[in-house]
Amino acid sequence: MIKLIKPYISFDEVEAEFRKTFESGWFTKGPNVDNFKKALCEYTGAKYSHLTTSATTALTSCLKILNIKPGDEVVISDFSFPATANVVEDLGAVPIFADVDWETFNMLPEALEKSITDKTKAVIFVDALGNPSGLHKIKDICASKNLPLIEDAACAIGSSENGKKVGSIADLTCFSFHPRKLLSTGEGGAILTNNEEWNEILKIKLEHGAKIQDGKFDFVDFGYNYRLPELQSIMGLSQIRKLDSIVSSRIKIREEFCTQLEPLGYKPQRLLSDVVYNVQSLVFLVPDGVNRDALISFLKEQGIESTIGTYCLSGCTYYREHYNNVQPNAEKLQRSTITFPCHDDVDASAVCDVISQFQS
Ligand SMILES: Cc1ncc(COP(=O)(O)O)c(C=O)c1O
Repeated sequence: MIKLIKPYISFDEVEAEFRKTFESGWFTKGPNVDNFKKALCEYTGAKYSHLTTSATTALTSCLKILNIKPGDEVVISDFSFPATANVVEDLGAVPIFADVDWETFNMLPEALEKSITDKTKAVIFVDALGNPSGLHKIKDICASKNLPLIEDAACAIGSSENGKKVGSIADLTCFSFHPRKLLSTGEGGAILTNNEEWNEILKIKLEHGAKIQDGKFDFVDFGYNYRLPELQSIMGLSQIRKLDSIVSSRIKIREEFCTQLEPLGYKPQRLLSDVVYNVQSLVFLVPDGVNRDALISFLKEQGIESTIGTYCLSGCTYYREHYNNVQPNAEKLQRSTITFPCHDDVDASAVCDVISQFQS
């Protein structure tokens, strides 16, 4: 089976550092955590970083430090993984589903503007499948309305817009290090920000509410433990060093797919000018008349793994039943997008030949 993704890490790369950690017995809050945090700041250009157990706990932490309360509204991109909405729902706040652009798959500026009310307390922009197209435009709207912008960049490490790396653009940026991502620690996540005040609050909140004051350790707030351990940080460090070359190799594979599939009517996710896309997922809109689910089954029979693009959140059963506000573009994208395998073991030409043989 040609799998959708293959992790960019081998045991050999981490063995020596793992051994040192086992020998020292120092498994948490050690030098590798500090070094991974530093490396994330250096790579993205963000001033501050915090590691977490997942993008979900990273997003939750951001909403909590923004003091999002029951009844508050948070506008979110509607084409994403359900975690984007779940973190809002979990706090008793109301997710307001903003429809996405049919070509970039990202939040429509006009949908955001239409969704803002007196109850809006934050906006979550999702880099759909890693593509940050339109992020700066959304940032400008948020700035003009004085609303904090959280970027759900779960898929977007290594991407950039207007020459700025994801992580240094939004007010708060959250990454995922799940195995489907370019940089994986098994499970894991991070929060990046340039905001000194939020950085100080995050330090306390992510340390069980503890702070050292006047040389004394004290619990000055209530807080959480969402810490990423040392071994996971070693994995992160080894991959961040080669992230740009991982992104370049994925861009080449995407170009090969585009060359062969666009003449057949497959449409790649659109990138706006001055965007570097990390190709976290190689997603196309299938041509009219092609049955997407039948194509996924056909490819499986031929030994090629594929899957849907991602989800229309407002159309997921729970959110449809609770809010009855399904967004049309996101809904159509969930039905008509497909993700093809993308990694160094994929022979793009051979996979595209198989795709071209598919008859609806
Ligand atoms: C856009 C988006 N947000 C959030 C998440 C949740 O990430 P995690 O599994 O690290 O919690 C995912 C996971 O795939 C995602 O794609």
